[in-house]
Amino acid sequence: MIDELQALRDEALAALAAAADAAALEQWRITYLGKKGRLTTVLRGLGALPPAERPRVGQVANEIKALLESAGAARAEEIKRQERQRSLQAEAVDVTLPGRPVRLGQHHIVTQVIREILDIYIGLGFQVVEGPEVEWDRYNFEMLNIPKDHPARDIWDTYYIAHPTRMGEMLMRTHTSPAQPRVMERTRPPVRVVVPGKVYRFEATDATHETMFYQIEGLAVDEGITFGDMKGVLTTMAKRLFGEERRVRFRCDYFPFTEPSAEVAISCHRCDGKDPDCRVCKGSGWLEILGAGMVHPNVLAGVGYDPLIYSGFAFGLGPERVAMLKYGIDDIRLFYGNDLRFLRQFR
Ligand code: FA5
Repeated sequence: MIDELQALRDEALAALAAAADAAALEQWRITYLGKKGRLTTVLRGLGALPPAERPRVGQVANEIKALLESAGAARAEEIKRQERQRSLQAEAVDVTLPGRPVRLGQHHIVTQVIREILDIYIGLGFQVVEGPEVEWDRYNFEMLNIPKDHPARDIWDTYYIAHPTRMGEMLMRTHTSPAQPRVMERTRPPVRVVVPGKVYRFEATDATHETMFYQIEGLAVDEGITFGDMKGVLTTMAKRLFGEERRVRFRCDYFPFTEPSAEVAISCHRCDGKDPDCRVCKGSGWLEILGAGMVHPNVLAGVGYDPLIYSGFAFGLGPERVAMLKYGIDDIRLFYGNDLRFLRQFR
């Protein structure tokens, strides 16, 4: 009987060594130690032995049972460890592989230029404010000294967007100048603001004209502001944008909301007027970037500022035109054509 038990023990240990995973181990436990398992059956059969043999055989059988149980537990640990090892290996990350490059976004070139210009004005003590793109006729025209049916309205080809309401007519603003009465209406002098934003014109597009483009409006009003202050501020901006050696030209122009009015150009940074075939200034030596002037007394009076006490200057600049000059871009339509090959050049 004892020989039989020892043979069973050896067979069980050999089978245990061959059990390669948790399922095989469970099968092994059922075969040898389960309720109907082979060792259990032997233990149950002890009662049939002659009483003299029982204690000895019982002891050996129990020792074998304990041995198999602890060998089974050790094997279970071992299998668990091997499985953990295998899953770690399967999940292993090769940290020596080079990473995939992350493609960073960037600001649109026009946004970059707008920010550069705003930074210059912030440095000069101006505040940045914004106004609505859908505007009342009153702010876009009337409060800017352009009454209904005035021929000066023809300067701006306007998108009107609704039938007249009790509040008047609505339109897409044709310039950022409505910010002038809007800001002055709600503040007292001194006023120093710059107003970036989109404007809309019902115009045929070409290399230098878009139907949607940006403007940056500037407005400074206080006691004793002169044309000289305006020249100083605009010259400072031109030099910071295009370099210290740039010269600035002021020529007479006409806007209903400024008097006198000026068209401002900067000397060509590419040829400085020396190349008659220059593709940037077309040989003229000058590049027009903005319209400006001293705020008209009617505009000041319209918002309740006394024109005998206060004076100021205003300007409206086209940042796309500045970007074109700065980077030698020859067609304004490239900005909004959404061609990433073009846009990615300006990082
Ligand atoms: C105006 O819009 C005036 N509101 C500017 C102004 C403000 C004058 C304050 C006096 C006081 P103008 O239409 O010239 O003016 O436009 C100003 C600038 O916007 C131009 O110099 C140009 O840089 C840009 N611009 C005008 N039309 C277009 C267009 N279709 N596409 C791209 N840029 C344009």
